[in-house]
Amino acid sequence: MHISKLASELGDSATLALNAEAARLRENGEAVIHLGGGEPASPAPEAAAQAGIAKLQTGRVKYTPVSGTKKMKEAVIRYTQRHYGKTPLLSEVLVSGGAKQALYNFLLSAVDPGDEVIFPAPYWVSYPDMVRLCGGVPVIVQPPKGSFEPKAADLKAAATAKTRAIILNSPNNPSGEVYSQELVREMAEFCAERRIYLVQDDIYHQLVFFDDSPVSCYDFAKDHSHLVVINGVSKLYGMTGFRIGWSIAEKSLTAAMNRVQGQTTSCPSDLSQECAQAALDGDQSCVAELRKSLLENRDALLAELKNLKKLKVAPPKGTFYCLADFSAYEPDSSKLCKYLLEKALVVTVPGREFGMEGHLRLSYCGKKEDIIEGARRIYWALEDSAPRTIKIGAKTAERMLK
Ligand SMILES: Cc1ncc(COP(=O)(O)O)c(C=O)c1O
Repeated sequence: MHISKLASELGDSATLALNAEAARLRENGEAVIHLGGGEPASPAPEAAAQAGIAKLQTGRVKYTPVSGTKKMKEAVIRYTQRHYGKTPLLSEVLVSGGAKQALYNFLLSAVDPGDEVIFPAPYWVSYPDMVRLCGGVPVIVQPPKGSFEPKAADLKAAATAKTRAIILNSPNNPSGEVYSQELVREMAEFCAERRIYLVQDDIYHQLVFFDDSPVSCYDFAKDHSHLVVINGVSKLYGMTGFRIGWSIAEKSLTAAMNRVQGQTTSCPSDLSQECAQAALDGDQSCVAELRKSLLENRDALLAELKNLKKLKVAPPKGTFYCLADFSAYEPDSSKLCKYLLEKALVVTVPGREFGMEGHLRLSYCGKKEDIIEGARRIYWALEDSAPRTIKIGAKTAERMLK
């Protein structure tokens, strides 16, 4: 049967293929370590779980307004006041089925066929295909060599008459980089002047290790009509499966996004909105605890990676990802990824997926002992100075000598 050109042209996800291979190995009883994950291991906050139970007990889980319940939108407004010092209007808030849907709502509302959307590498793996699915053309700007922060001048130089939006994701997936105030300021000002949307994908915004107040585009623009801030409960509250995100954008853009959402999913889940609202309004100690455990995991990972003498790694400033330069061991990241899975049973994600060949993304959102074990296996598989044999599960594995 026919498959559309659009769907056929979507890139096959190397990540999904790796996950499938890891699952197959696990089913065969192999001791696989997963350093490829994208969600915190922590459970949803107790308040969210209780709110869900109470909602289910009413037996009334129905359609909500397209843009979300008033209760949830008011919780988003309070959240925005607390963390951004801005009070959006109800008409500027749109609750969606995850930050991903919020981004789709935006792209479908702002991008005409052939329009360009700029974002820097390394980028979230989904951006290029999301832009293409909406008829747009992704324009990728590389940072200077050895850096994860793009130059404002390079982003500006990439803008043309067809540019509709620039997306900044900081703290950044996959690098853990937090962009400087100067970059955010320059881009907020440039986008205001050129009437280009500046999309701030803030899904990791509280997951910053040494500064509780990450940079916000709101601080640098008097007029907010070109600013779109995307957020959600997935990463901060360990609520990936609830699928709740939101956007804050000017009223007429939000109205357009609302029309798009109305004709795609009708509304976000009533049950999940109830849970997400309870997470936003409830005890926030879970976020501080998550940050603390992620910092411990990050430091444990970095300590182990020090043994890899040819590895270049910058300590991530936030998120739960580390993008390390393995090119001195193997420049082809997909090949290296495959080798590490076969040889050491460790799942990593090739940097090529994020526009940064030669690197591997290592996630540290799992258990600390697994992170340490995974890094030790990578050391054993790649470094000549490592012991020749290692225990992997019940087996003793031997490294080939070069
Ligand atoms: C940068 C970035 N933006 C958006 C998302 C999507 O988040 P959600 O689960 O809310 O759809 C992710 C998820 O991995 C992400 O890494």
